[in-house]
Amino acid sequence: MPVDRIHWDDLPLAARGAVEQHTGPVLRAKTADAGVNSGIAATLHTADATLFIKGVPTDHPQARTQQREATINPYLPPSCPRLLWHVQIAGWDLIGYEHLVGRHADYAPGSTDLPLVAHALVELQNTPCPDVELKRAEDRWSGYAGPDGVEQLVGDTLLHTDLAPHNMLVTDRAHLIDWAWPTRGAAWIDPAVLVLRLMEAGHTAKAADAWAREQFPSWAAAPHASVAAFSAANARTWDEIARNDPQDWKKHMGRLAHDWVTYWRTAP
Ligand SMILES: Nc1ncnc2c1ncn2[C@@H]1O[C@H](COP(=O)(O)OP(=O)(O)O)[C@@H](O)[C@H]1O
Ligand SMILES: [Mg+2]
Repeated sequence: MPVDRIHWDDLPLAARGAVEQHTGPVLRAKTADAGVNSGIAATLHTADATLFIKGVPTDHPQARTQQREATINPYLPPSCPRLLWHVQIAGWDLIGYEHLVGRHADYAPGSTDLPLVAHALVELQNTPCPDVELKRAEDRWSGYAGPDGVEQLVGDTLLHTDLAPHNMLVTDRAHLIDWAWPTRGAAWIDPAVLVLRLMEAGHTAKAADAWAREQFPSWAAAPHASVAAFSAANARTWDEIARNDPQDWKKHMGRLAHDWVTYWRTAP
């Protein structure tokens, strides 16, 4: 379950003090109006800098995902905001990031953001997967894939796996943010994740597939049966997400994931 979002001023004094040891006095703070998970997500302004802070209570299960986000940061492509500091204090796990003045990507058909999004993902696909402890795709989806499915997800590509438009900030280029689920696996998994988000934005399965084939060599070369196995597992994952927290957008993603499975069964 997501953590209820609080504001900078609601953090314990000791936590704000620890942050200010890194940043200097915080003059203004603005809570992010998007994002669904973090307990705090805000832009901080000091006398000479602007930065982005993200945090969760240390005893929340999500503190683990935040640790993963910190571990992977030094290995991410240059477009990803750099981690500035990471502190655990007064019951809070807090990370400071370079601040980006951008907006969320628009994935709609015909959007001029789409080439930028493709560029950011190609850059990631070409980034070496670091030798750090990372979730493996075959483990991430093992509870959802059939017995033959899981080993088809094995690979050595660094994957983001949550390519929602609110995790992609656009300036003069697209930047991948929110690295809560870095995963090692088959390269075509990220394009598969993106295709579903394109459908959410109004693309047909066929159009999203055709576009992704042009952008991502890994997708053009993906074995049909492997994508089928992942797609089925991903649909079951979305079903579970929607069952546990039946918000409209989650139910919609579940339906789209099944539409995609149906399309892929007969895809060329
Ligand atoms: N480095 C950053 N600079 C500016 N805004 C950011 C930055 N990182 C995140 N944001 C904004 O905060 C929102 C929430 O951050 P995100 O990392 O996605 O956390 P969550 O886990 O809450 O989804 C993003 O959708 C984006 O609007
Ligand atoms: Mg997010």
